[in-house]
Amino acid sequence: MSQQPTSVSDGYRTEAPYPLRFHRELNPRHMCLALAAQGIAAPSCDLPYTFMELGFGQGVSLVMLAAANPHAQFYGIDMMAEHVAHAQALADAAGLTNLHLKQGSFADLANQTWPPFDFIAAHGVWTWVTAPLRNHIQTFVDARLKPGGLLYLSYNAKPGWAAMEPVRAVLKRAFDATSGSFEQRVQAALQTVREMEQAQALFFRANPTATVRIKQLGSESAAYIAHEYLNAEWKLFDFAEVADDWSGAGLSFAASANLQDNVIDLTVRAEARATFDAATSLAERETLKDFLLNKQFRRDIYVRRPHTLDDAQLVALHAQTRFAALMRVDQLAEAKLTTEIMTVKLNSPLHQALVEALGRGPSTLAELQTQPALVGLNPNAAFGTLFLLSAMKAVAPAASAEVARAAQPFVDRLNAELDRRSNSAIAISSRSSAIVGGGVRA
Ligand SMILES: C[S@@+](CC[C@H](N)C(=O)[O-])C[C@H]1O[C@@H](n2cnc3c(N)ncnc32)[C@H](O)[C@@H]1O
Repeated sequence: MSQQPTSVSDGYRTEAPYPLRFHRELNPRHMCLALAAQGIAAPSCDLPYTFMELGFGQGVSLVMLAAANPHAQFYGIDMMAEHVAHAQALADAAGLTNLHLKQGSFADLANQTWPPFDFIAAHGVWTWVTAPLRNHIQTFVDARLKPGGLLYLSYNAKPGWAAMEPVRAVLKRAFDATSGSFEQRVQAALQTVREMEQAQALFFRANPTATVRIKQLGSESAAYIAHEYLNAEWKLFDFAEVADDWSGAGLSFAASANLQDNVIDLTVRAEARATFDAATSLAERETLKDFLLNKQFRRDIYVRRPHTLDDAQLVALHAQTRFAALMRVDQLAEAKLTTEIMTVKLNSPLHQALVEALGRGPSTLAELQTQPALVGLNPNAAFGTLFLLSAMKAVAPAASAEVARAAQPFVDRLNAELDRRSNSAIAISSRSSAIVGGGVRA
């Protein structure tokens, strides 16, 4: 079979646009909540801030964030012209003036005249770009992330993906060696690994998760398969090597943006607790957790020169954090918080009282404490409960009334555009929310 002309730029496949999705982990309020639970200071999301997304895909997250936070400035760079055009069209429909998009490569990051950033996010990038590009990103973050600023970095983790590494190599080689249309080549690559799996290969008996993943691939779009598996690079990382790598730029791991991953009782079973408690470093604990959970994808938040809050600062921060309800109190009974190892329900009288009170309007913890049903609330315990409810998507950290009011016209225009697209091939399943400062499921 002959080699096809390639649609690759900097080793990244560009035939198909990235799927249209909002990622709540990119919402600065969500990241700041993760840090507040760890007692680490973060920029205030109600004051002006700067946010950069490196590799923003079709811009769904970035545009929704910009619409819901007109007091902040949002920047993004992506090399695919189609992605930039899509994001710009959404931004124009919303009438945004606080979104600055650049079509370009990470290799050119050093040449941009952008301000320093409070937040830099790279979601779905680190595993999939080559080592020289990762170096460019690191140099950029080193030069442009403010002290106390946050880096959101997601990547494929070794424990959960290890079995798939040789399969991905076969997939990519088969795709590269096949001729035909993009779709045909993806299907041919899938067929190659399916045949291997069906040939009773001992590899698949020893690695049953690889079989499960190959089956799942059958229901994924060709675009998703290309972005996930068919780039030049697909590097799996250990937590410890990533943390080491960033420590040179003064960045320390602060929390997972996957909120439940920060809760020991939800991630470390009783039988593993003694081993976990005996671990002497953060790297050992996080690595152990990745093995305990067979973690596939990490959503890490790093902070540049983090400041640990003292008790008084922490109490004040928790008291001032505003929350909004994302579900009604009757929906709590059905809702579940699921981790890799357990499922819990959050439907006690306290959970119900908090969700009911927030259903009447966004409130800070200090305001909640004045409500008759919640008088005597222990602020520490209540913050922990609201954190878990946030992990379960029953509540979310919310904007001040003033910020939400200013955002509403932009959010309304953006959502009107998203409504117009419903039932079309470019429908998006989230809507922007002025209250939570980002996207929520429609
Ligand atoms: C997997 S997608 C993630 C998109 C988005 N962050 C999200 O999660 O929805 C990776 C993105 O990085 C962009 N990208 C890959 N290599 C790049 C490079 N060298 N320079 C700029 N952008 C790049 C791709 O075009 C793509 O939009």
